[in-house]
Amino acid sequence: MKESILVIGSNGQIGTELVTELRKIYGEDVVIACDIRRPDYDIKNAGPFEFVNVLEKEILNNTFKKYKPTQVYLLAALLSATGEQNPKLAWDLNMNGLLNILDLAIEYQTYKVYWPSSIAAFGVNSPKLNTPQYCIMDPNTVYGISKLAGERWCEYYFQKYGLDVRSIRYPGLISWKAAPGGGTTDYAIHIFHDALKKGSYTSFLSAETKLPMMYMDDAIRGTIELMDSPADRISIRSSYNFAGTSFTPEDLATEIRKHIPGFELKYQENDPRQAIASSWPQSIDDKQARQDWNWKPEFNLTKITEDMLGNLKR
Ligand code: SER
Repeated sequence: MKESILVIGSNGQIGTELVTELRKIYGEDVVIACDIRRPDYDIKNAGPFEFVNVLEKEILNNTFKKYKPTQVYLLAALLSATGEQNPKLAWDLNMNGLLNILDLAIEYQTYKVYWPSSIAAFGVNSPKLNTPQYCIMDPNTVYGISKLAGERWCEYYFQKYGLDVRSIRYPGLISWKAAPGGGTTDYAIHIFHDALKKGSYTSFLSAETKLPMMYMDDAIRGTIELMDSPADRISIRSSYNFAGTSFTPEDLATEIRKHIPGFELKYQENDPRQAIASSWPQSIDDKQARQDWNWKPEFNLTKITEDMLGNLKR
């Protein structure tokens, strides 16, 4: 089978690294990077690029017609913090973008669709520790509501139309290649930049705010492992719990101080992102992913810190 892979939202924090990895595996011409902005990273000259807005149906349809994708990765979204600044736009983009893709995937017989959910789909009444796959989910951000609704739509399209759609609930993703996209977990990236530049950082989350986090290398590998698994191994068609590690701003500062001894961490109070973070799980039970497709993370906090500081210094 000749593969043709669309990555929509290719310039974002995940897309930038996913496109590069998929091109290594499948070849440069096979992976079509799609975004509303011209890419400014190394995916720019390395393979095909299309301007695609996931809400513009005609352009989207033409892109499917032109490439007849065998796989589609839909990464275009407004995240938790930016979503709260424009709730209606977040709902429109996150929800109608997904429905547009699911419908076109059926029309053009795309074999596999990938769509990310998030720990943001959980809420204040979800268990905080080792949050199970199935539990109360009462998200309180538009982003989280759209992720929970999207999970239901994914399962619906699988059951009703047999569409092979796969999904992961990402924790906070830490990376250095592309800037993060306006999430509540972004502090865990900014802190590394400021530690190197200024020797100090002011966190918008409090010292004891523990959140599930993952290094991008693990996230990309896990995503591709899920997509490569035989369909009969995928027992969850809403979205898989997916865990790397968990830490607080204070844990992270302690780890950074092993490399930058004088690093100073300060706290800024009353940031609206604190309420979002406080409603999310502290750790995630991902045993189903481990069982179904042998998921296993490789980066703990020590390794993440070493790799982030090493790469950012260069
Ligand atoms: N990292 C995301 C956010 O903070 C969670 O999916 O919005």
